[in-house]
Amino acid sequence: MCGIVGYVGPRSAVDLLIPGLARLEYRGYDSAGVAFQDGDGIAVVKQAGRIADLERSLGKVEVRASNTGIGHTRWATHGVPNTINAHPHRDCTGTVIVVHNGIIENWLALKSELEGRGHEFASDTDTEVVAHLIEEMADLPLAEAVREVMRQAEGALALGVMRSTDPLLLVGGRRGSPLVVGIGDGENFLGSDIPAFLEHTRKMAVIEDDRVVAITPDSVEITDLAGNVVETTERFIEWDLEAAEKGGYATFMEKEIYEQPKAISDTLRGRINQSGMVSLEELGHLDERLREIDKVFVVACGTSFHAAMMAKYAIERWTRLPVEIDIASEFRYRDPVLDRRSLVIGISQSGETLDTLAAVRYARAQRSLLLAVSNVVDSALAREADAVLYTRAGPEIGVAATKTFTTQLVALQLIGLHLARVRGSIDEGSIMNLIKGVRQLPELVQQTLDRAGEIDAIAAKFADTRDVFFLGRSGDFPVAMEGALKLKEIAYTRAEGYAAGEMKHGPIALIDENVLVVGVATDSRVRAKTLSNLQEMKARGAMIVVLAEEGTEAEMAGVADHILTVPASPDLIGTVTAVVPLQLLAYQIATVKGLDVDKPRNLAKTVTVE
Ligand code: M6R
Repeated sequence: MCGIVGYVGPRSAVDLLIPGLARLEYRGYDSAGVAFQDGDGIAVVKQAGRIADLERSLGKVEVRASNTGIGHTRWATHGVPNTINAHPHRDCTGTVIVVHNGIIENWLALKSELEGRGHEFASDTDTEVVAHLIEEMADLPLAEAVREVMRQAEGALALGVMRSTDPLLLVGGRRGSPLVVGIGDGENFLGSDIPAFLEHTRKMAVIEDDRVVAITPDSVEITDLAGNVVETTERFIEWDLEAAEKGGYATFMEKEIYEQPKAISDTLRGRINQSGMVSLEELGHLDERLREIDKVFVVACGTSFHAAMMAKYAIERWTRLPVEIDIASEFRYRDPVLDRRSLVIGISQSGETLDTLAAVRYARAQRSLLLAVSNVVDSALAREADAVLYTRAGPEIGVAATKTFTTQLVALQLIGLHLARVRGSIDEGSIMNLIKGVRQLPELVQQTLDRAGEIDAIAAKFADTRDVFFLGRSGDFPVAMEGALKLKEIAYTRAEGYAAGEMKHGPIALIDENVLVVGVATDSRVRAKTLSNLQEMKARGAMIVVLAEEGTEAEMAGVADHILTVPASPDLIGTVTAVVPLQLLAYQIATVKGLDVDKPRNLAKTVTVE
């Protein structure tokens, strides 16, 4: 996720681009840059860091008033977040300038063809191929050149392009990543999102997928990829700025919950090949070592630890390798037995959690193979590891992890299946079947979100309940743990996640008619046993909400006071869908209680102390 802003009109472009970028900083903030017409050429100023750092850099250069410009705030996916990889990117001649949000899946192939034709690349990004491709089309109108790029590029792209030979023209293109046009009076804007230009105009047009837009101060022309002009529907924006930054959602957390289908698609992008087989380029160079591994350790904290719990079930089931999981802050103190045949997977959305870093550094000292799962490119954890699988969820502003968790689950499922393929522990047909299930997740999560309304009444009924247990077995156990953590951290409700079968060994003493039990019973292998455990809770007076797979409602009816359902998925894959109603339940309860879900008390998004 990145933010794009563009301006063409009579005012000074840079003066408009910088506040526009600041409004889009929620979309990414590891580096930023602007490009603007400067005499006969185009000047580019870019900088690693936040928009404030870019402003400081701009203060050091002479910025002549310019009427056309584009800007970008970056959330790295390809290439570390440094100044060279910051956008905008240029072609060999500095004539073509490009900003991009998304992932160009076939960029390596395009880059090697371009290099073969003599192009020199300055950055490690996928984006730069666009500038060089357009350089080769100097005789075409810019909009046609962008259409041609969109025909060649695979994957998700929102583009903003300018060319020094076309002053007062900006061209945008969209497939998969958002792009909107702000329609002004004698001036026009491009943006990844409405806040980019909301101070200047309330008139806008949404660019649909596989469309190219050319804007000048007085015109907006949208075409399809064949060049046919497409009618533009102007809309009037009613939102205020704050609502616009949250995309119309009440909070960032709510927005991030609803972004999960897209975030999961981004995590999957380019990681499953044409034949439907998992293909992780990031791990390819380690395949030989992965075949020699005899034990796996997974270390993480908080929500990321719940992803580790799922990874244990998945990796053991699919590879038959023994897997140990550790809360990272405990790992070093038990003197774990590691050596160079151990694979250690560190999971951290921020990649900066000190406990997790300390754990992987300990493993590094034992010469173990280190793999990181992180959402932040070039984070400390990523730098520590032999290989990284980025979750590509985009920035998460709400303190409670939501989309970073579900994308961690998906990334770990891909790692488990990659290991199974490389080690030949299950046959290719079975792997492809599981992959089929993984591929359906964006759609199934969307279907689950579409039914969020069913949770409102349950949330209202139990908002004042003081004690809640979340119970599950097997793949449902980490989901239960995560449901409890969400409720604790944003609704301040005392909640415990427990293995359903363990309740009878002690905690059942706490059960009475004031306790709510949320039973997670989506895993078909253990459903009957979970149901028996829930009966034990009901017999002691607890109120029971059951989360079950569609089609199993009749089985649940005898025990449940309320039933929530999710669509069926293959074993363990369904953990991704199952957690969504529990995120929504915690969210709704916190909302009923009138709490600040984005900034819960006492918590920090990144924990850099031990
Ligand atoms: O950045 P990390 O994934 O390493 O963070 C780990 C935990 O601090 C984090 O998951 C925390 O539990 C969140 N508040 C969960 O919502």
